[in-house]
Amino acid sequence: MIKGFSKLSKLEKIDYIVDNFFHSNENYKKLLMKFWHKDAELQTIFDEFSENTISNFYFPYGVVPNFMLNGKLHTVPMVIEESSVVAALSKAAKFWAKRGGFHSKVINSEKVGQVHFISNESKEFINNFFEENKKTFFAIASQNSVSMEKRGGGLRDVVLKDLSDKEPGLFQLYATFETCNAMGANYINTILEAFGKYLEDSFEKYSKDMQVVMCILSNYTPNCIVKSWVECSLEELNDPSHGMSGLEFARKFQRAVRIAQVDPYRATTHNKGIFNGVDGVVLATGNDFRAVEACGHAYASRSGTYTSLTNVFINEEQGTFRFEIDLPISLGTVGGLTKLHPLANLSLKLLGDPSAKNLMSICSSVGLAQNFAALRSLVTSGIQKGHMKMHLMNILNQLEATDKEKEFVKGLFDNKVVSFSDVKQAIIEHRSLS
Ligand code: MEV
Repeated sequence: MIKGFSKLSKLEKIDYIVDNFFHSNENYKKLLMKFWHKDAELQTIFDEFSENTISNFYFPYGVVPNFMLNGKLHTVPMVIEESSVVAALSKAAKFWAKRGGFHSKVINSEKVGQVHFISNESKEFINNFFEENKKTFFAIASQNSVSMEKRGGGLRDVVLKDLSDKEPGLFQLYATFETCNAMGANYINTILEAFGKYLEDSFEKYSKDMQVVMCILSNYTPNCIVKSWVECSLEELNDPSHGMSGLEFARKFQRAVRIAQVDPYRATTHNKGIFNGVDGVVLATGNDFRAVEACGHAYASRSGTYTSLTNVFINEEQGTFRFEIDLPISLGTVGGLTKLHPLANLSLKLLGDPSAKNLMSICSSVGLAQNFAALRSLVTSGIQKGHMKMHLMNILNQLEATDKEKEFVKGLFDNKVVSFSDVKQAIIEHRSLS
């Protein structure tokens, strides 16, 4: 056990790590320091995002142009380490830009916070207390919402929930908020803690039994929801390259979605592909991807069985295809890292300084596009064809191939399955000949 690690300087922390885990090998110290930003001021900003920071961990920052959403072209920033995701999204963006683009509508932007408390007082007493004090909860919220209310946000409602049939004595203040362009976590938690303090003080005054267990926002926001969709005629899905008519393709595509609707194993991968896109934008704009994922997966389980977040409608009589997603997603375009992280700030500017609602639309449409791209590959050429090119590059880089060697090996594996050992063998042979 080391004591006082957090008090050490950055260099002392690195020395501790290198001495204790890398046999004092200076190369590891150099490696960690190589990723420090040369602009010391900028580095300090990154250091202060978190604790015990000793270096930066780089992820690729890519962009997808020509993403048509609600009649407007966007260039979408994506932070993602997985190869093929950006390429797949670009392909889907191009495909749908020619078919009217993506459409999206925010249905609701309600956020949720809860004060969980335990009391063995009668339900009647607790109910009466709540009814008598409901106005006070609004007043407490208002005191903490001066600038939020100016922007049109604030506490929308607070209700008492009785969960004592699930856990003895468990009650909850269930509060809903509008937080405008902020994700609102700090704002909501501050108000909830003020509610908790008021509950404790009030119950103590009457010597009544009550314990506030915790005050915290919920990342499950099924009413902070956006719908995105694409639609076109079945004819527009005709593509000679996959040897299927538009209708055949649409039916196979629908079957693929259906499988994700009935089988949680497939649904998990299906939704994972959606979050490849969503998380990329969420990260690039400095939002909390863990909250977004947790909420999306909880929503996908709302019926009691984990299922697909997307749905397909084919109308054979009218000859139409519609593909859509309902995604609950709580985002901010002010506060948090959105302005502090220079690249998150740049991402938002690249997107035209969107409101939180616009960003919800962008993320859900990107998720839908990513799912379309994945399913289209899966039901036509298979996923490996597209992956192989990027996979090959990763292997070549891992083997430290020169530009010449890369060219040679790329030619060799043009239409072949790529494996690490085959690529390694090809490089060994090429090196022995040159
Ligand atoms: C890979 O990251 C994502 C996919 O597996 C998604 C899917 O299968 O739908 C391609």
